[in-house]
Amino acid sequence: MRPGEGRSQADRRVRNPGLTLARAQMGVKSMSLTHMDGPTDGGPAAGGQALATGPAAAEPLLRLKGVSKHFGAVQALFEVDLDLPAGQVTALCGDNGAGKSVLTKCIAGIHQPDAGQMFWQGQPIHIRSPKDSAALGIETVYQDLALADNLDIVQNMFLGRERQRRFILDEDSMERAAAETLASLHVTTVRSIRQPVATLSGGQRQAVAVAKAVMWNSKLVLLDEPTAALGVAQTKMVLDLVRRLKSHGLAVMVISHNLNDIFEVADRIAIMHLGRMVAQDRASAFDRQSAVDYMTTGGSSREVAASASTTRRD
Ligand SMILES: Nc1ncnc2c1ncn2[C@@H]1O[C@H](COP(=O)(O)OP(=O)(O)OP(=O)(O)O)[C@@H](O)[C@H]1O
Ligand SMILES: [Mg+2]
Repeated sequence: MRPGEGRSQADRRVRNPGLTLARAQMGVKSMSLTHMDGPTDGGPAAGGQALATGPAAAEPLLRLKGVSKHFGAVQALFEVDLDLPAGQVTALCGDNGAGKSVLTKCIAGIHQPDAGQMFWQGQPIHIRSPKDSAALGIETVYQDLALADNLDIVQNMFLGRERQRRFILDEDSMERAAAETLASLHVTTVRSIRQPVATLSGGQRQAVAVAKAVMWNSKLVLLDEPTAALGVAQTKMVLDLVRRLKSHGLAVMVISHNLNDIFEVADRIAIMHLGRMVAQDRASAFDRQSAVDYMTTGGSSREVAASASTTRRD
């Protein structure tokens, strides 16, 4: 993080006074966020086992079991288990090359796993394309690729899904919905929703990309390194946004190397090392040292203690 970035935007406001959260929620049909399943955490689970849930506990929104993926001679993922519960933020961590992006792309439908299973609210699913992933309500936000620079905020948020009225674009309605969604997420620093995305800061771009995900009624949002290039103020804005998604009941997975971000925002932490899921648990089960140990070596001195008290596994 670089102190000082994002400093001059604090006093800017979305141009569309008079919009309220209540109106926003009424006006934006897709804000009816439905997946409010409770937490699934059951206890420490070192060694990368996805957390088993007790009979009474809700299924996670998305569960991966034994997902493997290779590219030629490179085995990128080894039998990875991962739970992404609704209403919780899961931080996916690991050193460079650990397999985080490949795993994300498997969920996003860009890569096809060689083996393993995925379950959506307990039901087996096959995600064969980004279209399948989007149809389930999964949105992936990539730092640089998420938005079209030459288009404005409204055009970006409706790209490919434009509203029409009597065969012409319904600009007013799209503008209103975009502004209301941003307002409902307390994104207040953009000057105008008609400004080209190229003129936004990194944090504002992230905010628009996330707002787009919310507007389209996503249930699971995957954020690949959302704060990697951001300053202090912008990072705070994106982390606040992540918390708001969670409070709307969405499952959120954040890929991050930044321990500050991870411990600030994550309810659960999943750590990969060289293609394997080496630890997965409630954030409170880790401290900084054990998280760093898992990320850098794939193990931790705390692993034994955690394993000993591990209670339930599939
Ligand atoms: N398309 C591909 N073809 C071949 N190998 C790949 C491909 N994509 C990823 N890999 C390999 O898979 C492994 C995991 O890569 P991945 O991009 O998932 O790492 P990562 O955890 O996201 O790392 P980083 O933190 O640097 O982004 C690496 O060894 C990488 O070289
Ligand atoms: Mg990556």
